[in-house]
Amino acid sequence: MADAILVTGGAGYIGSHIVAELARAGYRPIVVDNFCNSSPSALPRLSRIAAQEIRCVTADVRDQAALSRVFAGHAIAAVVHCAGLKSVSEGEAQPALYYDNNVGGAIALVDAMAAAGVKRLVFSSSAAVYGQPDRNPVTESAPLRPQSVYGRTKRIVEQLLEDVAASDRSWRIALLRYFNPAGAHASAAIGEAPSGIPNNLVPLLADVAAERRAEIAVYGNDWPTPDGTGVRDYIHVMDLAAGHVAALAYLASTPGVIALNLGTGRGYSVLELIAAFERACGRAIPRRFAPRRPGDVAAYYADPSRAEAVLGVRAHRDIDAICADAWRWRLNRVDD
Ligand SMILES: NC(=O)c1ccc[n+]([C@@H]2O[C@H](COP(=O)([O-])OP(=O)(O)OC[C@H]3O[C@@H](n4cnc5c(N)ncnc54)[C@H](O)[C@@H]3O)[C@@H](O)[C@H]2O)c1
Repeated sequence: MADAILVTGGAGYIGSHIVAELARAGYRPIVVDNFCNSSPSALPRLSRIAAQEIRCVTADVRDQAALSRVFAGHAIAAVVHCAGLKSVSEGEAQPALYYDNNVGGAIALVDAMAAAGVKRLVFSSSAAVYGQPDRNPVTESAPLRPQSVYGRTKRIVEQLLEDVAASDRSWRIALLRYFNPAGAHASAAIGEAPSGIPNNLVPLLADVAAERRAEIAVYGNDWPTPDGTGVRDYIHVMDLAAGHVAALAYLASTPGVIALNLGTGRGYSVLELIAAFERACGRAIPRRFAPRRPGDVAAYYADPSRAEAVLGVRAHRDIDAICADAWRWRLNRVDD
């Protein structure tokens, strides 16, 4: 029987792609989600691409009793913890909600895992734990100075997990620090489907190309970057998902805790990304320059060499693949 892997937040954007990749690698993914930012309609589509019925338990990860029932009912080998709230602006407006959901959820999960004797965990962390980097590319040993409530909740969970691993040497934990995940599954059956206004650039570009939105706002064209717009490291969500499958395999034979950047090592500006999206959709994307937003950073991109060395995987899809897949998903999306 294939190993069962619990994916919290598995109905969401990144979690659903991880579920698809786990199934492809021969695992049996099981989803826990409360659907606060996703739809149950993703599951039948996910089962189709996974070529297996994806079990889903509707529960909040802060509900430790519900999690314990999941562990009691399935022989779970490991957990990928994606469930969480991810909007930087919402976190600033509602800090207690973010601490409760992100930190409280991780505490309940760790307790339920310990009680069930499941001690292999991959955590969805973020480049937000670094804050404003002193230099690029950003390595895992860069200073950790998160500048948002969201980033602080991610760093606090990392610290919790470092302490858990120190207290009991049988834990195996990977802290995966995502740079800018984007794109969609090649089937165009799953992708990013944010409820409300998208936070990320690629779904916004897709909305403008689909004429659901008039134009894209570019925040700042006077940054110290080659074309004056912000530079980020966009990693295709399927390359990101492959990193999780590799991390689970790595942890099977390696105890302790490890932090790994998941990025490509190459930064692209907002204008370069807009041009790539225009190539993908064959339409012009109207844009408007707006003032810089407080707290924004000119440029950051990952040094992915530790993840490449440890996990043996490298992000190989470029921004053209990201935009082509995101556009096909936008055209295929029905549930909005
Ligand atoms: N998308 C990004 O740009 C990005 C970057 C870095 C890190 N991350 C992290 O990756 C993870 C997944 O992000 P995503 O982009 O897929 O977001 P998402 O909102 O699409 O997915 C999160 C999923 O978790 C669920 N969820 C949230 N709180 C829950 C709770 N308390 N109990 C049960 N389910 C809950 C949501 O319903 C959703 O399905 C998050 O932890 C996020 O912070 C995302």
